[in-house]
Amino acid sequence: MKKWFAVIGDPIAHSKSPNMHNTWFDEMNIDAAYIPIHVKSEDLENAVASLKMLGASGWNVTIPHKQTIIPYLDELDPLAKKMGAVNTVLCLPDGSLKGYNTDGAGFVHSLEEVIGNDKKTLEVLLIGAGGAARGIAFALQQYGYHNLTVTNRTVEKAKEIVSELGEGRALSITETEHSLDKFGIVIQCTSAGLGNSEFRLPLSLEKLQEGAIAADIVYNPLMTPFLLEAQMKNAKIVNGLGMFVHQGAIAFRYWLEQYPNTNNMIKRLTDELN
Ligand code: ATR
Repeated sequence: MKKWFAVIGDPIAHSKSPNMHNTWFDEMNIDAAYIPIHVKSEDLENAVASLKMLGASGWNVTIPHKQTIIPYLDELDPLAKKMGAVNTVLCLPDGSLKGYNTDGAGFVHSLEEVIGNDKKTLEVLLIGAGGAARGIAFALQQYGYHNLTVTNRTVEKAKEIVSELGEGRALSITETEHSLDKFGIVIQCTSAGLGNSEFRLPLSLEKLQEGAIAADIVYNPLMTPFLLEAQMKNAKIVNGLGMFVHQGAIAFRYWLEQYPNTNNMIKRLTDELN
């Protein structure tokens, strides 16, 4: 029987996930389909019941349901449990639902695709302490990056992440600006300026280390103001598109036990976004 998958969220019309997964199904000759479903918060419970009843094999979960989906799931992968957020659901053969979070691991795969996996001892700076930053912090720790500093406009939230990680440091934005030259990897995880033109960098890159790696989780635009500024300081740039493609690829692997071609997809979506 043909398998089918979905992404649920509100809004959902602009999601690039259906196109990405359907392209992979075609490339790999998998008889499956992936559709976007607009689900409002008040309809989430009914939506989960419907997806189960109609035999979805799995689905992705996006804003605003990543936390609120949890009570409707039967089991959580340990990393998703730590993060308190789920972006991928797998329907198990007995009909139960298991939740995963592939966002943070997607980021690390994308980072390592560009910089290799031999830079784990570098000092890493995470800018931001919202949901996205939390996911990346836990994934970085799981993949062996232990020299982690978190900075955030609201420093208390950075402290919370560090306390949950059980390692690393929290610094204020000003303290971070003064010591920026010690970080080999700097990751922009805030939503500052998203969707408005008056973008201000979450912190000054004046002291960015020569040759540092600068990554952003935003992929539209591909070159964010943060990455442009970092590039002017001779940083090596990692845009957010790889994270998007790899979070999808890891979800795909949970569903179908095969890893799709991420390089071709990144090239294809880069052309679309340019
Ligand atoms: P997400 O799920 O995308 O991480 P979020 O949980 O709302 O979204 O977190 C947004 C992050 O962007 C937070 O770190 C937030 O800082 P605060 O914790 O101080 O709110 C950060 N952020 C949003 N707008 C910002 C701005 N204008 N300047 C600096 N940081 C900003």
